[in-house]
Amino acid sequence: MILCVCNAITEDELREAAASGAPTPELAFQKLGHEPQCGSCLCYAQELIDEHRRQLPRPKLRIIA
Ligand code: FES
Repeated sequence: MILCVCNAITEDELREAAASGAPTPELAFQKLGHEPQCGSCLCYAQELIDEHRRQLPRPKLRIIA
């Protein structure tokens, strides 16, 4: 499904950019060779990135006293 009409970026492409480490829509767009135009997709793009990041395994923390 198209996420960004201005740049013809799909949701899957954005998820791939998030998986390669982009924490924001702007950086994800940059990884995909684009930049935001109208900005109307950025809130939803951030939601998809945040959703992806929540699914990542959390690092195990050790408390050292
Ligand atoms: S719809 Fe993504 S920048 Fe316009």
